[in-house]
Amino acid sequence: MITQVEKMQKEVLVIEGKRKLQGILRVSGAKNSALPNMAATILTDKEVILENLPDLLDVKLMKQLLEDIGSHIDCIDNNVCSFRLSSPKSFVANYDIVSKMRASILVLGPMVARFGYAEVALPGGCSIGARPVDLHLKALEMMGAKIELQHGYIKAYAPKGLKGAHIFFEKITVTGTENIMMAAVLAEGQTIIENAALEPEVVDLAKMLKKMGADIQGEGTPRIVINGVKELNGTKHTIIPDRIEAGTFAVLSALSDGKIIIQNYPMEYLEYVNEVFKDIGIYILPVDKDKVIIKREERLKPVDIQTKEYPLFPTDLQAQFMTLLCFADGVSQITENIFENRFMHVSELNRMGADIKIVDRTAIIKGIKELTGADVKATDLRASAAMVIAGLVADGITKIHNIYHLDRGYEHIDTKLKNIGANLWREINE
Ligand code: UD1
Repeated sequence: MITQVEKMQKEVLVIEGKRKLQGILRVSGAKNSALPNMAATILTDKEVILENLPDLLDVKLMKQLLEDIGSHIDCIDNNVCSFRLSSPKSFVANYDIVSKMRASILVLGPMVARFGYAEVALPGGCSIGARPVDLHLKALEMMGAKIELQHGYIKAYAPKGLKGAHIFFEKITVTGTENIMMAAVLAEGQTIIENAALEPEVVDLAKMLKKMGADIQGEGTPRIVINGVKELNGTKHTIIPDRIEAGTFAVLSALSDGKIIIQNYPMEYLEYVNEVFKDIGIYILPVDKDKVIIKREERLKPVDIQTKEYPLFPTDLQAQFMTLLCFADGVSQITENIFENRFMHVSELNRMGADIKIVDRTAIIKGIKELTGADVKATDLRASAAMVIAGLVADGITKIHNIYHLDRGYEHIDTKLKNIGANLWREINE
């Protein structure tokens, strides 16, 4: 008997390329906003209602993690859930979940802040790099937590509560900033986070925490100041649209000749990306208050891209832009500055006829006329999105193995694509 997980891991997505794609693609709630906001529900014993939650694997894993800790979760439908953690039944985020979803580390800050104790499995490396959590731990130590690493677990103690501290992150870290912001809202005194991440998802988390009664200033700037409060209230909050899913859809739209309308495209979070699109010869045109269409010049121009922290070019769109630049007229370069091993999709794109070479942390992409369908591997979440786009515009049939990565971060992607005319299906690779 194979388990559900084993079945998922054997699933192959089969795509017939070059179909005319036409219709509306709706952008779902942001995964990277849903996960910290769900973790923040730990901070209160009152009810928190989250709307526009994306229905995807990582959100399901976070629900499971919260339920293991003792949260009561009631979902009205796939996208609206209420969370309430009256009293904890466990202080452990176990390896089984953490190994599937690194963002599980987000429960560490809120658990120590509210209960004075937490055990979270060490996430370890992943397919895109080592991804340590040392900065999260150092900051919690500065706030008075005692941290021990034992048997693959982080054990954090602060029996008398956390204390405000002046924290300077040596490196900008998104979940690090979120974790410490959540820890600081219930700490005694003032916490200052310097070199904080500016991502819209950090700002969205601060917005929800403020609605719960937290005292936070400066979110969206490199210096966040938090004055701890005794307790937080419940609230209702709507998750922001997923800028990465939106950018993924825009790339697909630019490469397919059909007419795709993207709904909920968050222009304000994609300003830099929209400029890069423009340099390539792709224009995002609003057609309605919440809809855009993508127009492109016949000849796509090559560009040089450097991935950087927000508001610059997101690493989470790097792979999708690699597929796009395969069709540019000339040689483009993409330098990956955030993760050291995030070029696993290069060899897969090359299997489909792309001409990409890697020199250190830079991929050199020579434009080609056409990609051809092939058997390829999805190597991580965003790489799998790049392969799906490639498969949809390639000549012939593409089979994407390890497609379960895609389901971690893209809500009902098969249905969304089928609704605009794609022909794709899943097979079990025995
Ligand atoms: C978040 C996003 C992920 C995105 C990434 C970069 C979520 C749930 N995930 O991941 O989709 O790709 O931001 O935009 O929001 N680092 C350390 N020590 C630490 C923490 C980070 O060295 O303690 C390094 C990382 O290895 C990486 C860099 O800092 O090289 C940035 O990582 P970070 O911003 O922390 O990424 P995540 O928050 O894990």
